Order: sequence, then C-alpha cells, then structure tokens
Amino acid sequence: MEMLDIIRKKRDGGELNLEEIQAFIRGASDGSVPVYHLAALLMAIYFKGMKFRETGLLTQAMAQSGKILSWEGLDGPCVDKHSTGGVGDKTSLILAPLAACCGIYVPMISGRGLGHTGGTLDKLESIPGFQVRHDLATFQKILRKHGVAMIGQTPEIAPADKTLYALRDVTGTVESIPLITASILSKKIAEGLDALVLDVKTGLGAFMQERNMSIKLARSLVQTAKNAGLPAQALITNMDHPLGNQVGNSLEILESIETLQGKGPKDLTSLSLELAGRMVLAGKKAPNLKQAIALVRKKLDSGEGLEKFREMVEAQGGDPRVVANPKLLDLSPDLEVFSAPRRGVISMMDSGLIGRAACALGAGRGKMDDLVDPGVGLTLKRKPGDKVRQGEALIEIRHRQGKGLQTARDLLSMSVCIAETRFKPEPLILEEIQ
Ligand code: URA
Repeated sequence: MEMLDIIRKKRDGGELNLEEIQAFIRGASDGSVPVYHLAALLMAIYFKGMKFRETGLLTQAMAQSGKILSWEGLDGPCVDKHSTGGVGDKTSLILAPLAACCGIYVPMISGRGLGHTGGTLDKLESIPGFQVRHDLATFQKILRKHGVAMIGQTPEIAPADKTLYALRDVTGTVESIPLITASILSKKIAEGLDALVLDVKTGLGAFMQERNMSIKLARSLVQTAKNAGLPAQALITNMDHPLGNQVGNSLEILESIETLQGKGPKDLTSLSLELAGRMVLAGKKAPNLKQAIALVRKKLDSGEGLEKFREMVEAQGGDPRVVANPKLLDLSPDLEVFSAPRRGVISMMDSGLIGRAACALGAGRGKMDDLVDPGVGLTLKRKPGDKVRQGEALIEIRHRQGKGLQTARDLLSMSVCIAETRFKPEPLILEEIQ
C-alpha cells in the first residue's frame, strides 16, 4: 500500500479504512514509513478530522502496536483515572491509594509534565528513591501485591503513540480531537482495564481551554472507549484556577499527604473523592455513587488511604518516612512573597500563567529532555472568591537562588485580578459525560 495514496485520500477529506490505518500505524511502530510521510498524514488528519469509526480504528491499531496487559487471577477489577492535565492537579496521588483501599486495582501508567502542566511521574520522583521506571513484570507484581502501582510508559506499551506523540509535538498537530483520543485511549486500553474514569479539564490552565471543545473531547473519549469494550465516563472540570494550593513537585507531594491526612484543601479533597467514587462504582464495589463516595471518604477518614500511599512509596523504592516527616522532601529554602497590589476580592488566578511561573522557576519543562527541580514552586495563600487587604501575602514563591524569579514575578502579577465587588467562582465540576 502506497503511503502517498493514503495521505492524498485524507488530504482530500476521505475516510480511511482499516487496512490504511493499520499501514500507517505499522509504519510508525517499525520505522518503515519515513517521518515526512507520518508528519504529512498527521497534518491532514488535523485539518480534515476523522469520522468516529476511523478514530476507533486508529485507537485500536495504536493499542495493538504493543503489548496489552492481562490481569488473570486478580480478585478485583482494574480501574484507572486519566486527567488531560492541569496546574496543581495531584488527584492521582490521592485517589489511587483510596480506590485501592476499596478493593479496586489501579495500574496507573502516567506521563511527565510538559509546558505549564505538571506530570504525576515528576511529582513521584520528588520522593527520595521513588522509582517510576519498572519493567512490566515488576509493575504487575507490585500491582498484584499492593493494589496500586504507578509507572511511566514502557517501550512495550503503545509504541506507535510514542513516535506519533513526539512528532505531533514538533509539527503543531497536538490539538486534534481524533489524535488526542487515540493517543490517550491506546495507552489505557493497553493497561487491560475493566473501566476508566476521565477528568477532562477546561479553562485557562487546561490544554483544551474552550468548554465546548473540552466537551467534544470528553464525548469522543467516552464513546471511543465504550466502542472498544472499555466502560468509561468523564467529568468536565474547571481549570481556570489551580487545583489545591500547591504547585510544584515536592510541594504537591506534601499537599497530597496532607489531603490523605484529612487536612487538604476543599477543592482538591472533593474532586479526589468524586473521581475515586466513580472508580469504585465502575468497579462495582458500591451500589450507587453516593455510597461509593461514602466508602472512599471512610478510607480517607480512617487513615487507610494514607497507609496505602506509604505502602506504595515503599514498594516502589521510595523513602516511606516522608509520610511522617515531610522535611525529607527536597524543598528549596529560598522564599519570596507576592502580595496583593490592592484591597478587594480575588476574581482571577489564571492557572495558565501560574503554571508558566512555576515552570520558569524550574518546576516544569519546556522540552521533553529538560530537568525539573523538585524543590521549587508556588504556594497559594488565597484563592478566587477570597477577600484580601492591600499588601497581604497572596502567593509564596519558592525559588532556587533566584533562578527564573523575575519571570515568575512578572507572570504572577498578570495572573491575579482583584475586583471591588463580590465574586463567586464557578463550580469545580461543570458537567458529566456518560
Ligand atoms: N495526552 C496524551 O497522552 N496524548 C495526547 O495526545 C494529549 C494528551
């Protein structure tokens, strides 16, 4: 089959068939199709889109480009959560141990942060000794024993996605609903799940900023997953402001531990419970959502969730003492305060700009091979809706010897708006897609 014919067909708005999609994905996996052909086809898909059926075929072909895990002999269901990424979003670290305490197995294969959004792997690696690079046999062993394991993508999981995602990143073809759908779901299907819960972020700090596009993406993800035999549901959640109060890798581990101790911020705690509750319901460990969330809440209040987190840290080579002694985390001692320029009510804390400020300090990366500094980041002392006095501390900037500090200050001063009148932020959960 000629790749050039496939490119021309999509360029002219045609619908690709199974054979054509398989030829494309085979070529991406084994390197037999030149990169300029892959890039041209990605751009044609970006502009012409894909029919729902094509997206399904692409997803399946990408999942089957590698190994699909199987979990025979497990005494419970495998359920995972995927978030499209945001600022301060550390829910995975909280909900995975909580769901595991409710009898759900959580085999989480996560990504690194890129641009202004953080990544679960970078957060986990800020725990001294924590290993996210495990082969699949070790991953499966940890999951079977502890009910939860978190690793990075291995070469065997959806290798076609690895090639295509890197290429999309440098060819301006990331923001395509069929390509995002196939990329996310190919990896989740390869995890061999019984069900999937999706958190599709929308707003200033989300990678899909417009709400109607986020809803479109959520529908595409849920329908494509269901058609592939994977029960799925999605929440559309607000990412105009950061989730929780901490942004930065060690800081987010600290806040996750506090949340598992029952001392976390309200928004982070409630979203973690909502998502974990849906995982528990999808895994048929409760008869309805209300009871599923109540069960998760019980595991939080009893401290079992925190103990499961400690167990997971230890199982993956990390120092479990961080749970009782957060001083073991690398936190830079260099602090500066960003204060309210005037009195009023905070009407905006733009999470896109706040994420970029954290990135400038070294908490995130601009390119995939950049190193992150676990010890820097931002602590929000106030959130949208709060009244503030002039000069009051709004954000604590934790920097490393001034690196990126001026850029962070500039971005933060653009990120915060203070209104004179009352302001009520939008709810965190905006919509549910079944
Ligand atoms: N995350 C993914 O894994 N793939 C995409 O295409 C976008 C976000």
